[in-house]
Amino acid sequence: MGQQTPNKILITGGAGFIGSHVVRRFVKSHKQHHVYNLDALTYAGNLENLRDIEDSANYTFIKGNIVDETFINKLFLDYKFDGVIHLAAESHVDRSISDPSSFVRTNVLGTVNLLNASLKLAKGNPDFKFYHISTDEVYGALGETGFFLETTPYNPNSPYSASKASSDHFVRAYGETYGLPFIISNCSNNYGPHQFPEKLIPLFINNIIHNKALPVYGDGNYTRDWLYVIDHARAIDLVYHKGKMGETYNIGGFNEWKNIDLVQLLCRLMDEKLDRPRGTSEKLITFVKDRPGHDLRYAIDAGKIHKEQGWEPTVTFEEGLGKTIDWYLGNQEWLENVTSGDYREYYKKQYQQ
Ligand code: NAD
Ligand code: TYD
Repeated sequence: MGQQTPNKILITGGAGFIGSHVVRRFVKSHKQHHVYNLDALTYAGNLENLRDIEDSANYTFIKGNIVDETFINKLFLDYKFDGVIHLAAESHVDRSISDPSSFVRTNVLGTVNLLNASLKLAKGNPDFKFYHISTDEVYGALGETGFFLETTPYNPNSPYSASKASSDHFVRAYGETYGLPFIISNCSNNYGPHQFPEKLIPLFINNIIHNKALPVYGDGNYTRDWLYVIDHARAIDLVYHKGKMGETYNIGGFNEWKNIDLVQLLCRLMDEKLDRPRGTSEKLITFVKDRPGHDLRYAIDAGKIHKEQGWEPTVTFEEGLGKTIDWYLGNQEWLENVTSGDYREYYKKQYQQ
């Protein structure tokens, strides 16, 4: 029996936080696939995140920018991918407030470049699929009650969520207009190892390690639903292989926390892990000016993916947060490396420290 040709999957943004967990999962669990990781290695992308799998026979890294249309068209013609899992994006809300244009370039134009190149491959390959990874932030803000469903109308409030909503719309429009086979999933806030320390949890872990202020926006009474990144990667694997074309899946942790409660829990766990007297880290909490357009609450109803695909989160928040803290404490060199360069300048501007 002859060897089967491997299924060629392009994963964009695979050197970033979620992308690196998705790449690792596909490389390790799906030897029948060859994974091509396309990443521009912006401040958020780091090949350190993939050291353990970089020599695998079914893995190739390609450095490149999805905004470069000529490069993308040639790449798709050269490699003839069988599918795309698209995660590359500018992903931080605060950055989108200070520089919205870069979010339009990568998240909107970059996605459209990938869609155009995908159309050409889809014409000659009936099994081709484009899987777009998106966020629950496209739905806007909830009040104290209710959940986002797949049918909830889009109502993005930040430049980040507006750019992601726009890219979601383009993906759907390419499906309707040109018949591109696609799937979209919209997930809640992820946390776990390898997350760049500008998002709430890793930023605060890093600041506690260095005895720096913990800037809680407004009164801290904002709610997010948190999902351990490995559970998200497992959901992406399931949706890529078993999801129905043209469908959207909401993915969430059934795990809502008000920011201030989460920060207090984090402070308590950090005191224990660092063997500091209880209350030490909490003293670092500093209430600062609110984020403009700050969404009050996000909460996902992940009933559809549960019912259709049998997916549910497996890692409890206490367990996931413990593992996350252990990872950052054990990888302080990684933290040092990623927080050199433009990061310090950015935070000086952000918090006038
Ligand atoms: P991240 O910022 O950690 O990583 C983004 C990656 O994309 C980086 O490796 C970066 O180098 C790469 N990239 C950026 N611009 C690029 C470009 N122009 N060309 C090629 N590569 C480029 O992001 P993340 O948190 O891992 O998020 C990944 C995806 O998941 C994003 O699409 C994001 O919108 C979505 N998402 C994130 C969350 C979350 O909580 N982090 C939740 C739901 C959905
Ligand atoms: P973040 O991790 O930036 O994710 P998102 O804005 O995409 O939900 O922020 C999570 C929550 O924490 C959000 O309500 C904003 C708040 N936050 C702070 O209070 N202080 C901070 O320094 C950061 C980065 C976020």
